[in-house]
Amino acid sequence: WKSGVLWSGKNLSGHAQLLWCVFFYCRRIGEPPLDNGLIPYVGCALQFGANPLEFLRTNKRKYGHIFTCKLMGKYVHFITNPFSYNTVMRHGKYFDWKKFNFAVSAKAFGHRSIDPSDGNTTENVHETFTKTLQGDALNSLTEAMMENLQYVLRPPVLSKTNSDSWVTEGMYSFCYRVMFEAGYLTLFGKDLTRQEAQRTFILNNLNNFKQFDKIFPALVAGIPIHMFKNAHNAREKLAEALKHENLQKRDNISELITTRMFLNDTLSTFDDKEKAKTHLALLWAAQANTLPATFWCLFHTIRSPEAMKTATEEVRKALENSGQKISFEGKPISLTQMQLNDMPVLDSIIKEALRLSSASLNIRAAKEDFTLHLEEGSYNIRKDDIVALYPQLLHLDPEIYPDPLVFKYDRFLNENGKPKTSFYCNGIKLKYYYMPFGSGLTLCPGRLFAVHEMKQFLILMFSYFEMQLIDSQVKCPPLDQSRVGLGILPPTNDIDFKYKLKH
Ligand code: HEM
Repeated sequence: WKSGVLWSGKNLSGHAQLLWCVFFYCRRIGEPPLDNGLIPYVGCALQFGANPLEFLRTNKRKYGHIFTCKLMGKYVHFITNPFSYNTVMRHGKYFDWKKFNFAVSAKAFGHRSIDPSDGNTTENVHETFTKTLQGDALNSLTEAMMENLQYVLRPPVLSKTNSDSWVTEGMYSFCYRVMFEAGYLTLFGKDLTRQEAQRTFILNNLNNFKQFDKIFPALVAGIPIHMFKNAHNAREKLAEALKHENLQKRDNISELITTRMFLNDTLSTFDDKEKAKTHLALLWAAQANTLPATFWCLFHTIRSPEAMKTATEEVRKALENSGQKISFEGKPISLTQMQLNDMPVLDSIIKEALRLSSASLNIRAAKEDFTLHLEEGSYNIRKDDIVALYPQLLHLDPEIYPDPLVFKYDRFLNENGKPKTSFYCNGIKLKYYYMPFGSGLTLCPGRLFAVHEMKQFLILMFSYFEMQLIDSQVKCPPLDQSRVGLGILPPTNDIDFKYKLKH
């Protein structure tokens, strides 16, 4: 409004124009079309929150491929044309990729800013993540996860006296329990001094994690954690267990954590509790998406007899080729990264399950005023505005994925059974067609490990257990929309299934 070029309210007097602008932020020439919403400050947040996919589809029909929405005082420019995603990435120098993430992390986990420019630490967390979640480090993580999954799944945990009978459980609770326990042990190692108390310790952590994670959307929205007494207590207890003095008692801690425990960061002003809270942030990043994603992989596969048959056959062959046999008492199964990477059916199942359940929001904050040059035109963006991609729009686009709401286990396979990587929109090949792990500089550094651990879980479930849905005709549960923007959405209700050890 400083430039005085108004898109709406232009017939008002100067004073009224100013008021109009304070409440409604006016569009300048060259900026994307603006939806201010009806409520000052809140803007369109309620409509967006109620059904983001429908809201964005409606706005796309109304305004075209790029438009601005006011959301809780922020101006968010949505780019909805997947052919423009690449161009947005190329404007990287104008974006602050981390500002938003650093701020959310500090708010949610209760540590001070980890942005080196704020002077509390010199650690380049992005580098640490890449170094300790990929390359050589990925080998040890993957090995440890396979061992821990079998520690959780095999007898005596599932008592031998019970091994002939069916056990009925909610499938989401089951996946949550197994993946949380194995994942926690993989990141933070085992306490060798108190082995018998290990399970109780992890289950306490699991309950605290659930309680804390439930209010995560509220924390991201800026509501202080003090408003939620139980979740606040749960967070403090989770962090307490991750203090240096407690981690020191554990063996086989992942490099992701040890690198940060013994970081040579002389400028760090973080005390032990605050460091523990940054470990908690990693626990959350490693679990919050993986737990529901694992559920969707298992649920969709069990519901599709063809998927189940083909996947089980792929697993059988992989074990045969590696010369290993399933046994409850003998050596745990172990597969190398190369063997895991050569399982295209499981890869396709995982991709399809994530395509259907992912609702992440890729956000970048503008560092300065600049012009965004896209395929469909050039648009002026103001400093501190947000540019957002919402990949669910492309994941559920019928042009790209026919019958987008149907789970097709082989959607990401070619006719020759190899991974399919060519997807088209209007006859043109897409570079970006699958984005549950984000994009550009905020691409998830744990994505390779995440796929390995879900694959390992499926391999073990298909090998060790017979499984059946209690209601073979059960409908697919809806996605929990309250977590839109955070990644993989959990189901709104659990689905009962039964399992027993195979003979
Ligand atoms: C299905 C599982 C997973 C999904 C869908 C997923 C998705 C994502 C997405 C979308 C982001 C970027 C968020 C943004 O745009 O700011 C992200 C960031 C991150 N993820 Fe994952 N993730 C998964 C599993 C994991 C695992 C297993 C780990 C670690 C063990 C992990 C570690 C991280 C970390 C550390 C970040 C922050 C990166 C940074 O700020 O530089 N993720 N993840």
